Amino acid sequence: MPRITVTVDGIRYEEDVEPRLLLVHFLRDRLGKTGTPIGCDTSNCGACTVLLDGKSVKSCSVLAVQADGCDVVTIEGLAPGNGQMHPLQRAFHEEHALQCGYCTPGMVMAALDLLRENPDPSEEEIRHGLEGNLCRCTGYCNIVRAVRRGAQEMGQAQEAGQEVRTP
Ligand code: FES
Ligand code: FES
Repeated sequence: MPRITVTVDGIRYEEDVEPRLLLVHFLRDRLGKTGTPIGCDTSNCGACTVLLDGKSVKSCSVLAVQADGCDVVTIEGLAPGNGQMHPLQRAFHEEHALQCGYCTPGMVMAALDLLRENPDPSEEEIRHGLEGNLCRCTGYCNIVRAVRRGAQEMGQAQEAGQEVRTP
């Protein structure tokens, strides 16, 4: 069985994994990272999105062995601690950008990757950037507003010299 070394949310793990094990199952079942949900079996919904070396990927479409030597960030690694939320999480909360919340971890992680490439996206750019992530509840308007607000708050926090997790 192959052995992989992977850093997840800042902690380094060395694990033996089946070659066919999906990254999402490794995260959830081996590491207990259940903040990353599985929303479909067709690699369609984006709920399982995490950052792999800074880029958003659907963790149900990546093998755990492909993450060998990589840095993975899940929704559980975003918040700075002390009970505080990441600005993007706070924006989702304040703009009521979730109902059941099932899509939310993937939306936040995909949005973070979008903001890395484009720190001040238009509504159209946000809709385009998140088109691989499906939400069955909200109709997307509040999600778009939340990403705009999160982008502004991340920018303000960085200007104020605060450390903000970005990919
Ligand atoms: S669970 Fe990965 S895309 Fe739906
Ligand atoms: S909030 Fe329910 S799927 Fe998006």
